[in-house]
Amino acid sequence: MIEKQWRTHNPSGSKRVVVTKELPGDRWLEILSRADCRVEICTSTDILSAEEIKKAIRDRCDGAIGQLTEEWGEELFVALKAAGGKAYSNYAVGYNNVDVDAATKQGIPVGNTPGVLTETTAEMAVALTFAAARRVVEADRFMRGGYFKGWLPTLFLGDLLWRKTVGVIGVGRIGAAYARMMVEGHKMNLIYYDLCQNKALEDYIGAYGEFLKSQGEEPVSCTRAESAEEVLRDADLVSLHPVLDETTHHLINKKRLALMKENAILVNSSRGPVIDEIALIVHCQKHPNFRVGLDVFEDEPEMRPGLSELVNVVIVPHIASATIWTREGMATLAASNVAGILMGYPAWQDQDISPFLGDDSPRVAPSIANAKELGIPLFSG
Ligand code: DGY
Repeated sequence: MIEKQWRTHNPSGSKRVVVTKELPGDRWLEILSRADCRVEICTSTDILSAEEIKKAIRDRCDGAIGQLTEEWGEELFVALKAAGGKAYSNYAVGYNNVDVDAATKQGIPVGNTPGVLTETTAEMAVALTFAAARRVVEADRFMRGGYFKGWLPTLFLGDLLWRKTVGVIGVGRIGAAYARMMVEGHKMNLIYYDLCQNKALEDYIGAYGEFLKSQGEEPVSCTRAESAEEVLRDADLVSLHPVLDETTHHLINKKRLALMKENAILVNSSRGPVIDEIALIVHCQKHPNFRVGLDVFEDEPEMRPGLSELVNVVIVPHIASATIWTREGMATLAASNVAGILMGYPAWQDQDISPFLGDDSPRVAPSIANAKELGIPLFSG
C-alpha cells in the first residue's frame, strides 16, 4: 500500500473531518471552517481502499465526506463511530455505494447532494444522445485520420430525432429534466416508465402540447407505460435514469435489448450495472445501426472486453455531472450536510436546495437520507 498524500485546511479546528478527495471551489472549505472543523483532504486521485480510509479516520474523526467510488459499508461506519464520528456525506446524489442501514445502526446520518446535478446530468444525456444519433465521435476520428476527401451524399448518415418518440426509464429529477429537453427542444413524444407517476411532468407536456397547437403545430404527447418493456418496444430512443438497486440491476439485458428497434438509441447516465454490459456488446455487434451513449460502466473504471472497439457506442468516463457549477454545488451540499449535523441543525425537507447555494444558507443540513430513522428534527423552508 503506497502512502497517500493528504493536506490539512484550518488546522486549528476543534472537530476533525476527513475528505477522501479534493473537491472543487472554496465555499465548502469555508462552511466546514465556520463549523470549527479541521479538514483533512486526500490529494491523491487514486481510489482509496477501505483499509486506507480506516487509517485516515484514525481514533478521532467527527465527520467524513466520501466518494461514489468507495464502499461505505459496515466496516467503515463501525470505524467512524468508534472514532467519535457523527456525520457522513457522499459527494454524489446517488448513494448505492453506501450501506445506509449500517450507518443508521451506528447512529450516523448519511448525506447526499441532490438538486445540483439535475440539468447538468440531463444535458450530458442529451449530448450522448446526439453524439450517438449523428455519429459525432466516428466522424471526428475520420476527420483526424485524414480520410475526408470531400462532401458525399452518403457520408455518415445518422438518425433524425425530431418528432420521434423518446423513452425515459426513471423520471425522477434528472429523467424528467432530460425528457423535457427532448420534448421541448425536439418536439418528441414521450413514453416513460417509473413506479411512481410523474404528474407534474405529464401536466407540463400536456400544456406544452396545447401551446404547440395554439401555434398551428402538431402537439406532443406523454404516455406513462405499464412496463419498461413497453418503453423499449415503442421508443426510438431510450434514456435510463433509475436508481440502482436489486430491482434495476441488469434492467437492460439480452431479452429486453431484443425488444428495441434495430436502429434505436440507448443512453445510460445513471449507474453502469443497470445494463448487462456483455449482452449490450453482443447486441451492438449484431446490430450496427443500434447506437449507444454511455457515461457509466458496469465495473468502473474497467470496460467489458469488446466495448471500446464498437464504433456504434460513444463512451465518456462518468462525467455527466462534471460542470464547475454542479461540482462546486455538490461540494457545498456535502460540506453543509456534515457541518449541519456537527452543529446540531435539523434536516431540510424540501426538494429545492437552492437556499444552500446563496451566501446566507439556512442553519439546516440540506439532505440527510436517514434523518427520519435517526429521529433528526425535520425542517421545511
Ligand atoms: C452522482 O452524484 O450520483 C453522479 O453519478 C456523479 O456524477
